[in-house]
Amino acid sequence: MEVIIQPDPQAASAVAARIISHTLRDKPNAVLGLATGSTPILLYNELVRMHRAGYLDFSQVTTFNLDEYVGLQPAHPASYYSFMFEHLFNHINVKRENINIPNGLADDIPGHCRAYEERIKACGGIDLQILGVGTEGHIGFNEPTSSLGSRTRSKTLTPRTRFDNAPYFGSESKVPRHVITMGIGTIMEARTVVLIAYGSSKANAIAQTVEGPVSSMMPASILQMHPVAKVITDEAAASQLRNTSYYRWVYEQKPEWQQF
Ligand code: GLP
Repeated sequence: MEVIIQPDPQAASAVAARIISHTLRDKPNAVLGLATGSTPILLYNELVRMHRAGYLDFSQVTTFNLDEYVGLQPAHPASYYSFMFEHLFNHINVKRENINIPNGLADDIPGHCRAYEERIKACGGIDLQILGVGTEGHIGFNEPTSSLGSRTRSKTLTPRTRFDNAPYFGSESKVPRHVITMGIGTIMEARTVVLIAYGSSKANAIAQTVEGPVSSMMPASILQMHPVAKVITDEAAASQLRNTSYYRWVYEQKPEWQQF
């Protein structure tokens, strides 16, 4: 696991954007796994800026989003569908038919989840998966005790996640109880995984993810088993890590050819 600590969310988002731009330079038809939540907004702003400046072309890119609430209309302002169009898809040249977001209104949710997995496979698998992390360590909506081998399926949110996401809905009681999420096994098959985390509320999750035991109680800790996992944080989210001087030293020593 590579840990990259940056002074602030802006700088950390710029590093994540550079990783995406290198991926697209090497493979213009890359398959990107995308995340929602407040954390990736700065990253998406940076991707839009780079696209407008002519540095990033998404015309051959395929995207798969991690998760969606069950029962929300796509047009609902708190749906992840709305989020993705507002923050990214409306501003870049990705083709509408290449965008994949779980459908929380599907009649047959297990069938829809199986089809989502099949579509990821048919597209050649995910090249680069962007992840945020919940305060209790969830990735996607894989809450603590999720099977570390799980596939795309519906899940029930924890009270903590519903509390954390209440601002998007106006009150906790309006936050859906159920979601569809890529599984941990699905996420682990991405060729590269980049987890971004900002702020002191993520400090414990980051410390446990990077330096704690691998445990379904801290789902993000499974990334210790991933061959190419990068964790990019600001100073606040890194504040409970023990080996920070080593991580900083490794990053400073990185040879140019190995940069990302
Ligand atoms: C949400 C999403 C996750 C996200 C996490 C953190 O509920 N399902 O994909 O990474 O929780 O959200 P935020 O970035 O707003 O802290």
